[in-house]
Amino acid sequence: MNYARIAGTGSYLPEKILTNADLEQLIDTTADWIVERTGVEERHIAAPDETTCDLAERASRRALDAAGLDPGDIDLIILGTTTPDHIFPSVATQLQHRLGCYGGPAFDVQAVCTGFVYAMDIANRFIRTQAAKRALVVGADTFTRIINWKDRGTCILFGDGAGAVVLEAAEEPGIIDSRLGADGRYKELLWVPAGVSSGYEQTRQDAAFVEMRGSEVFKVAVTTLKEIAEQILIANRMTVADVDWVIPHQANRRILAATAKRLGLPEERMVDCVRTHGNTSAASVPLALDVAVRDGRIQRGDTLLLEGFGGGFTWGAVLAKY
Ligand code: ACO
Repeated sequence: MNYARIAGTGSYLPEKILTNADLEQLIDTTADWIVERTGVEERHIAAPDETTCDLAERASRRALDAAGLDPGDIDLIILGTTTPDHIFPSVATQLQHRLGCYGGPAFDVQAVCTGFVYAMDIANRFIRTQAAKRALVVGADTFTRIINWKDRGTCILFGDGAGAVVLEAAEEPGIIDSRLGADGRYKELLWVPAGVSSGYEQTRQDAAFVEMRGSEVFKVAVTTLKEIAEQILIANRMTVADVDWVIPHQANRRILAATAKRLGLPEERMVDCVRTHGNTSAASVPLALDVAVRDGRIQRGDTLLLEGFGGGFTWGAVLAKY
């Protein structure tokens, strides 16, 4: 049986940092309120001429270096994003062109903050069915481009970034299991009302920006992140005690803390980059994974649980041996 293993990870954050003190100048808020309610102290913002593909390329090259591979070794690219450079073509095809590894399939996945976890699940299935040998799996977003900087309930949360993983075929796991889900009834709790087909010329000027009912999102996020962790562990006859590191979507410190508590997981075993990254949407899970790999917390042989949750709602979990 073919499995997929993580051969290398990489990430990239734009240079510009927006602090809570900077936000105090923009909106009616305080740094203390933001830290207390969200855990975010600063976030990175893409330069005006820096696109999602630019961020994705930098993260991908770092993941390829970590794996000791060349772009030519990659035969599949899947990229999770909500903020593509263009309506089409996909960021994945443009990333393929930048890397110069032509011919294999390359496509974007739209599952908002769960985009990377969806992409990992799909890439795992390609490798397990021997349709691909080495996949580049990316989560990249310039989410701040769709933020209303006058809306203090959302602009405090988000940042830009990219994370990437090289998955390759292996005799042993690697990825033990992955599960995805969605429930479209929650559309209006977290969404951007404007769009290609429904039209940009909406009555409200701010329709092209993220709208969120924060406290309702909070409740569903905590419940779902707990449930998907339990489901995948039970299905694989494991418990939280068997997991070395949980790498959840970096939505908000309080969501992470509440999820850890409900799972009975010591918070030290949950990778938390909320303070310096904010919520980077599809980039948040691979960014946190790469940070913990590079600072030596995550070691080869460790058991990892990756969890995503995002607009739709969508959700997903990946259980893997690193
Ligand atoms: N500064 C000061 N006051 C604020 C701010 C701010 N930045 N934002 C809101 N407030 C005020 C509100 O206006 C409200 O005032 P009121 O009582 O006078 O009406 C008060 O604070 C409480 O507002 P709530 O929305 O109830 O505050 P809450 O404690 O729920 O915190 C927050 C808001 C931080 C947005 C929280 O709901 C949250 O984190 N929700 C989850 C959001 C999230 O993580 N979304 C993404 C996850 S999924 C994904 O990534 C796609």
